[in-house]
Amino acid sequence: MRHVFDARRSSRKAIDQSGVWRFREHVLDIDESLIITHPEGSTRLYERDGILFKHEGENPTGSFKDRGMTVAITQAVRLGAKAVACASTGNTSASAAAYAAQAGLRAIVFVPSGKISAGKLAQTLAYGALCLQVRGDFDAAMRLVLEASQRLGIYLVNSINPFRIEGQKTIVWELLQDLDWNPPDWIVVPAGNLGNSSAFGKALVEARDAGWISKMPRLAAIQAHGANPFYRSFRENFAQRHRVSPETIASAIRIGDPVSYDKAVSALRATNGIVEEVTDDELMTAKRDIDRMGIGCEPASATTLAGVRKLRASGVIGDSDRVACVLTGHLLKDPGAATVKVIEIDPEISEVERILAADR
Ligand code: F0G
Repeated sequence: MRHVFDARRSSRKAIDQSGVWRFREHVLDIDESLIITHPEGSTRLYERDGILFKHEGENPTGSFKDRGMTVAITQAVRLGAKAVACASTGNTSASAAAYAAQAGLRAIVFVPSGKISAGKLAQTLAYGALCLQVRGDFDAAMRLVLEASQRLGIYLVNSINPFRIEGQKTIVWELLQDLDWNPPDWIVVPAGNLGNSSAFGKALVEARDAGWISKMPRLAAIQAHGANPFYRSFRENFAQRHRVSPETIASAIRIGDPVSYDKAVSALRATNGIVEEVTDDELMTAKRDIDRMGIGCEPASATTLAGVRKLRASGVIGDSDRVACVLTGHLLKDPGAATVKVIEIDPEISEVERILAADR
């Protein structure tokens, strides 16, 4: 018997607090009493060194995934699903588990064995999901969950699910709203399975068509060099789709065969966007700098700042261009990736004095 909290159905107040359901007319046509919201969204916008950072790590489970998950789980319940499934590098699984717990659904998640951070795995398990560690990479887990959901009639909540995309559009709308609908020149986003790039393109096209903005920002989707199939396709003007064997320290985007490739190509074309790649060294340097700003993020999110630096150096992003980076996950999602030194001492004041003198 699974325990279902009163939060299963959302109060009007929760809906109005949600940065997703504030835009509900443009997200999902559904009776408000059926919406399952934590609430999520309404994240902060920071400005540091002339660059804007929208911190989606401030969502309830620590990543932007909650924006799409509230919609996908609402839809799952509407359809009468009893179980939901996803493949994940750790953030989708944590979000799916949390929202499934709220809705009283069973969550089954498929993760690449040994390739997701300990924190994300712990979080996913704590929310009560059944976690299957697949021997293989994320792409193998993705193929397996696609087959499993079709065969076993389990509702799939990966971003291939269009309801996820509808929710993730609100990252861009909320950013534009934060800026009084004066769009930046660039919106910069990490690119892995390409759900978010797809959602951002759709959000921008809809915002322009509705007359909310009069100028189209350009999307910059940034990949890790070792997991760069989208970048490879972009370099060939999307003549062909690439698949790679992925390797990067940014485990969230360690993906070689992104499932939302076609939608992301449309998004890039609609926004005159570009795709860039950055090395692990470049993204970890950027992560250290974002951390030292007192903001912090997980490695995948730092591809944004690393990408901005590279695109400024090559002149693609102009010095006076306004740039908004979307930080997709919280610093504490992947603390093992932090490059910090910890000093252990005996409980003596002389030890403290010695260390402080040496650190000057
Ligand atoms: N940043 C973070 C922190 C992520 O967790 C992901 C994807 C991305 C960026 C890339 O977004 O896939 O829409 O292009 N994480 C997925 C997961 C794959 O399973 O949590 P995308």
